[in-house]
Amino acid sequence: MGAMIFSLLAVAVLSAAAWVGADVINLRLLIGVIFPYAGFLIFIVGLGWRIVDWARSPVPFRIPTTCGQGESLPWVKQSKLDNPSTLGGVIGRMALEVLLFRSLFRNIKLDYRDGRARYGSAKWLWLFALLFHWAFLVVLLRHLRFFTEPIPFFVTWLENLDGFLEVGAPVLIGTDLLPYVGLPGLMISGVVLLVAVTLLFVRRVVIPQLRYISLAADYFPLFLIASVALSGILMRYYIKVDVTQVKTLVMSLVAFQPNTAVLGNIGFMFYIHIFLVTVLFAYFPFSKLVHLGGVFMSPTRNLANNNRRVRHVNPWSYPVKVHTYAEYEDDFREQMVEAGLPVEKQPDPKPAE
Ligand code: HEM
Repeated sequence: MGAMIFSLLAVAVLSAAAWVGADVINLRLLIGVIFPYAGFLIFIVGLGWRIVDWARSPVPFRIPTTCGQGESLPWVKQSKLDNPSTLGGVIGRMALEVLLFRSLFRNIKLDYRDGRARYGSAKWLWLFALLFHWAFLVVLLRHLRFFTEPIPFFVTWLENLDGFLEVGAPVLIGTDLLPYVGLPGLMISGVVLLVAVTLLFVRRVVIPQLRYISLAADYFPLFLIASVALSGILMRYYIKVDVTQVKTLVMSLVAFQPNTAVLGNIGFMFYIHIFLVTVLFAYFPFSKLVHLGGVFMSPTRNLANNNRRVRHVNPWSYPVKVHTYAEYEDDFREQMVEAGLPVEKQPDPKPAE
């Protein structure tokens, strides 16, 4: 409970700080220009450092997870995706994992009833996680319209697809939630992102075992991403900002020639949004979110199971530095003999006095 409250408070304080910084003590240059540059730099360097660190770790054994029949005699049918023995198989398994979260689909829950352990299917995590990640990706790609001129075709294409409902965002009128046509077209992915992140949070608190193992490092990213999505939604539909000025600012940042003249023309909601995004980017490499890169670096997934055909040579740190037994004995022979331990090579006799 403490971890959850702490994380919620942290995100609330960050949002309030951005609002005060933008509207009360005019730190717009800091929040709108300097912090985003710094956050992006931390993200790139941090993520790069994590990946290089993983890549340099020795992998002395070939340890792919094998979830089906391995390659064997010609008449034994191999499970090519669950036990890949070729690079193609590894890429296929990885692609299905990254794009469809295939292993999560097999998530099971264990409970005890009538003194017996029972396993049941548990697809909720798979569903929520898939919705969340795909919505996040679509939202991010749609944001490219702020960063590019001309806007790439696929961004326009995504926007049309995402807004296919062609309704305004819903507003509460009395007790009815009504589509309001005066608002900009509803982007489904933004809403799905917020709903999915909420569902992931609810799952975490509703399942007692999961709540028990949850830390601030689990709640904070959820609240942070939810606040990024919420501030974006508020900004698009309700507490409007001048989007053309945002585009001018962002294009100037991309060109490394910040146009500080527009900072004053953009509403405070943008500063809350961009500040939370900056925190998210800077926090990313040091948090659980770095599984974005880690998933590709796991030797249980990125190696083919061809142990019987190919001798595995540790590809990164070969030749491996070793200290042989002979060298060890050379280092400690005298002490070993003194302690009465057997040695393979007798010490040189002391020269006669
Ligand atoms: C992790 C990164 C980000 C996430 C998850 C995110 C999320 C969102 C969401 C969910 C919306 C609501 C509308 C929609 O669905 O498009 C939105 C709107 C918006 N975001 Fe972001 N955002 C991110 C980064 C940024 C960045 C870096 C900028 C700076 C340019 C930005 C500027 C805006 C603006 C100006 C809007 C309002 C758009 C409009 O009025 O059409 N966002 N954002």
